[in-house]
Amino acid sequence: MADRKKELLQAARKARAKAYAPYSNFHVGAAVLGASGRIYSGCNVENASFGLTCCAERNAIFAMVAAGETKIREVLVIGESDGFLPPCGACRQVIAEFAPPAAKVHMCSKKGTCRTSSVGELVPFIFHLKK
Ligand code: THU
Repeated sequence: MADRKKELLQAARKARAKAYAPYSNFHVGAAVLGASGRIYSGCNVENASFGLTCCAERNAIFAMVAAGETKIREVLVIGESDGFLPPCGACRQVIAEFAPPAAKVHMCSKKGTCRTSSVGELVPFIFHLKK
């Protein structure tokens, strides 16, 4: 595994350990590589009002934006599933806001086996606001 991907996996696993998921008990961690080379991570944060839950991917991306970056080079997400974990539709749209179609998205199983796709493959018709 390439060093960069290993770093992303490590960061995502570390974030997953902090997941706040008392309702689903499904812990997710995500890591985003910004254009600067910095890695940002996030975990899912649930709420008693279920619809307020925020996924790990979005929390990682929002941390990136809060740090002053708006370009994603790569994303990695890891949950607790035996199979690879694809980002939900809402997260795909948020990823697409900041990543070019060619950016890689690594979707990993709990063991760390990843399936890699691109943003363009995951969101073939991306909504961008153009007036
Ligand atoms: N979840 C994520 O964090 N990312 C995904 O891509 C899929 C789902 C979280 C949301 C919720 O806390 C839990 O997984 C179960 O849906």
